[in-house]
Amino acid sequence: MTKKQLLAVAKEHGTPVVVIDHEVIRRSYAGFRRHLPKVQAYYAVKANPAPEIVRTLYQAGASFDVASLPEFLLVHENIKRLPAKERQDFIWDKIIYANPIKPKETLEALDEYKPLLTYDNRDELMKIKRYAPHAGLVLRLRVPNTGSMVELSSKFGCDSGVAVDLILEAFRTGLVVEGLSFHVGSQCTNFENFVQALNIAAAVMEEARSRGHEIKILDIGGGFPIPYDTHVKPFRELATKINVEIERLFAADIQILAEPGRFLVATAATAIARVIGKAVRDGKPCYYIDDSVYHTYSGIIFDHCQYHLKAFRKATTEICTVFGQTCDGMDTISQSEALPKLEIDDLLYSENIGAYSSASSTWFNGFAPAHVVHVNQ
Ligand SMILES: Cc1ncc(COP(=O)(O)O)c(C=O)c1O
Repeated sequence: MTKKQLLAVAKEHGTPVVVIDHEVIRRSYAGFRRHLPKVQAYYAVKANPAPEIVRTLYQAGASFDVASLPEFLLVHENIKRLPAKERQDFIWDKIIYANPIKPKETLEALDEYKPLLTYDNRDELMKIKRYAPHAGLVLRLRVPNTGSMVELSSKFGCDSGVAVDLILEAFRTGLVVEGLSFHVGSQCTNFENFVQALNIAAAVMEEARSRGHEIKILDIGGGFPIPYDTHVKPFRELATKINVEIERLFAADIQILAEPGRFLVATAATAIARVIGKAVRDGKPCYYIDDSVYHTYSGIIFDHCQYHLKAFRKATTEICTVFGQTCDGMDTISQSEALPKLEIDDLLYSENIGAYSSASSTWFNGFAPAHVVHVNQ
């Protein structure tokens, strides 16, 4: 969006405000499908659970990855509400519940939908057998997350050495393992993680086949990076690597899916905040804005993501600190931003803030989450 459009939104809705451009979401989805034509995109709802985004991506052709029962119901409810002509045939295998650990109450509630669920250990398998016996299973493998911005491999995924035992055990109890999955870590800029993960999955699939079990689904997870800075190599380079490995390692009739979250929504959003206070501390200009790391900038804490702030007017810049609006000292958005001299009520904006931002906003100190405005829906 242009600066003029952003200023118009701030004028109409006030601040703090997050603008989400659905045209950018549609473009990201189309780009993902174009570069990875064999891979169906299951949008990871956790990245940004705005119902408007779920509807836009559903209409574009996406399926969904959910991490909880509320996310599952959010997808269900929002798709039901679409006018008949825009609805595809909604089938439950358009959703994967990809959180490997699930409360038993969630399993009980999901069972009637014959869901596709991930697991990565024997205790979870037994729980699924008892509370969701109609589920299809996807075994989550542990794969290298080297260099990824958010590391997931210490929390989830079974070692490849025990993978086939977990597959055999599932079949022995009467469940069906339909697929294998992995996650290379979020914002994965080290593309070798994908190459290694695909090789690990292919070896497990081959061993399962040799023990009499054909696995038909490969879920290559999320992790597809967006260009927060110029060091991130283009997506087409990653896609070429993935396509080559898929062609080399897997049978042509295998179903391949991915769970992109960040890639589909991060670049679609811009946050606009207002300077509400200023001070000079240790000789350095400090600005206080009406958003915070407990709100839109929560990704600084939970997503390990550094967002930059920009001013609307061009002028000589100086290094300054930008704090959030809460009383917490940890609520520091940046200790090193290059900004012009600012006055109270000046506006600042941050781009590429659509993933893991509003999603984890709180009401800390009584401040409400930023207003979200959807454009080009
Ligand atoms: C199981 C699973 N799938 C998909 C995603 C989305 O990952 P990303 O936003 O990196 O694409 C995550 C993120 O944590 C995840 O845990």
